[in-house]
Amino acid sequence: MSAHFDGWPNILEAQQFTRKWMELEFFPLALEMKKLVLRGILEILRGKVMGTLFYESSTRTRFSFETAMLKQGGNVVSTENAREFSSTVKGETIEDTIRTLCQYYLDVIVIRHYEDGAAARAAAVSSVPIVNAGDGKGQHPTQALLDVLTIMIELGHIDDIKIAMVGDLINGRTVRSLSYLLAKFSGVKIYFVAPECAQMRPDIKDYLVKHAVEFEELTDLRDVAGQVDVIYQTRSQKERGTSFDRNDRSIGFFDINKTILNLMKQDAIIMHPLPRVDEISTEVDADPRAAYFRQAGNGLYTRMALLKMILAPNF
Ligand code: CP
Repeated sequence: MSAHFDGWPNILEAQQFTRKWMELEFFPLALEMKKLVLRGILEILRGKVMGTLFYESSTRTRFSFETAMLKQGGNVVSTENAREFSSTVKGETIEDTIRTLCQYYLDVIVIRHYEDGAAARAAAVSSVPIVNAGDGKGQHPTQALLDVLTIMIELGHIDDIKIAMVGDLINGRTVRSLSYLLAKFSGVKIYFVAPECAQMRPDIKDYLVKHAVEFEELTDLRDVAGQVDVIYQTRSQKERGTSFDRNDRSIGFFDINKTILNLMKQDAIIMHPLPRVDEISTEVDADPRAAYFRQAGNGLYTRMALLKMILAPNF
């Protein structure tokens, strides 16, 4: 029987995962899935059904979760746009939607929602595991797992890394979840590079202080691009009200282009949860340090591992 994380079997926030669980359970299984998926369709989740309930748009998270289920022989029921095509449009609460789906013998429900805390509200009334696939400005815990898996694969270690998190930090949920996870490792230094109006929120900074994680706040990526092992770029979250102009040089420098590539260490990497808008120039894509599409690929192995742990822990 595998060791579990806090809050098992719901996945609601990145603080749930311990370093021990990541190192002994998650990384080995995700790496095994990377090999197993090449064999075609596995039988691990035969007869299991996953419901995906996405109230916000998604490409990577929904496709990788659904593919992770299908590649292991399981089934998926889904609504492409729950905000428009589920009974939410008639005024149904998320609690009643979940209570109803639980009547259909689903084995797990994956939810993306536009409100912070929506996945936790769902879990409070659910009789099956709930996975938070991103809730408002809150968290995106499975993204953080694929992010640390990517750092482990690309750099070989997470301890002692220097990472610049760049862009719309006040509204981005991926950087929040990743900060929580990095705090589980030692010797990590985080540079938050954002306009003053979009800096990381105090709750994360308080958590980092409490866990003795060193961090600095800056407004110009060029000041640290040559020192860091990872640049984690993020887009402006316009759907959450972001209004700063990232091309306004009076508020700072946040773009990744040839200038940044020339400053970076040869063994550093560039990550981005994607989708990209214009914050990484396409001229960067051919550089071997551009890890963001490999990072997206790691989402499949991450979600295969998580679904296997939740639905077939003894297989
Ligand atoms: N990284 C991520 O959550 O991408 P999607 O919004 O496409 O799912």
